Amino acid sequence: MEPAVTVLRLESHAKVNLGLEVLGLRQDGYHELRTLFQSLELHDDLELRARRDGRVTLRCDHPAVPLDEENLAVRAARELQRLAGEKRGVDIRLVKRIPVAGGMGGGSSNAATTLIGLDRLWKLGLGPDGLQPLARRLGADVPYFLVGGTALGLARGDEIYPVLPQLRAHLVVVDPERPLSTPAVFRRLDASLTPRENGTSIFRFLSSHLAGRPAFGALVNELEAAALEEAPDLRDKVAAIRGILRSAGASLLSMSGSGATYFGLFDDAAGAVAGQAALEAAGFKAYRTRTVSLDRYRRGAWAPAEARRRGALRKD
Ligand code: C5P
Repeated sequence: MEPAVTVLRLESHAKVNLGLEVLGLRQDGYHELRTLFQSLELHDDLELRARRDGRVTLRCDHPAVPLDEENLAVRAARELQRLAGEKRGVDIRLVKRIPVAGGMGGGSSNAATTLIGLDRLWKLGLGPDGLQPLARRLGADVPYFLVGGTALGLARGDEIYPVLPQLRAHLVVVDPERPLSTPAVFRRLDASLTPRENGTSIFRFLSSHLAGRPAFGALVNELEAAALEEAPDLRDKVAAIRGILRSAGASLLSMSGSGATYFGLFDDAAGAVAGQAALEAAGFKAYRTRTVSLDRYRRGAWAPAEARRRGALRKD
């Protein structure tokens, strides 16, 4: 018989929003969004170790990461445990690389990856579809991280539709080391928000991408103005970041999510190398990374357990 798996090591990937449209305020207080998510190779490391006594603990190397229920990964584990009537617990170890409160979905990714991992560790057999309702309750960005790759997010950003073709690109991510509160950015936006039925920027981009000539210029992040109102101290830095990424030849440069991380997209590694070097020379913290496709994301998150099951069947 296959020995029980008691430790899992998983990569918890970052995302950027290639574009983000805010269509209006919803009855539930959230905003109606249309966004294009993209997962990145940049990731945190997550280790899950089953424990028999039912406790859920978290250790993390980053001082700004909460270790209690405020942490979405801890909440994810406790809620899944409660829902599934699971007697076992888990020790979670987190190595942080994704900027904290930077608009790259680090906390949401940690929560979704914890759900995926515990589904395997505790052998619940829920899969992405079974985990979806809990992911939605945990946060608007969490459902995306059950899927990954290039995907459209509708409603609160929690209705996920993968798109074809998946985008392949090199990126430079700049962390201005200025955490921003998402609710605060949305509140700023409300002051100037004009509800509208539709926006076309993401759809225009998607049709051009399908035709093989991606019009990155069509994409916008409609939270950027509100983020810079919330953090006016960032304006000069952002102007400098934009200038450097533009000179390095980025085909798209934008803020991610509710900020304040910025990124530049490049067709080839050489452009990204030049962009990162120029940003570092100007004193910025910049990472070079690449896109992760839907297929690769799925293989990383879900496939090892399937492979093990197949192995066990062969042995039988
Ligand atoms: O769902 P989550 O807790 O990640 O959302 C954080 C905050 O972002 C919400 O409390 C809300 O202020 C804002 N938000 C929103 N509309 C969305 C997503 C998030 O207003 N679609």
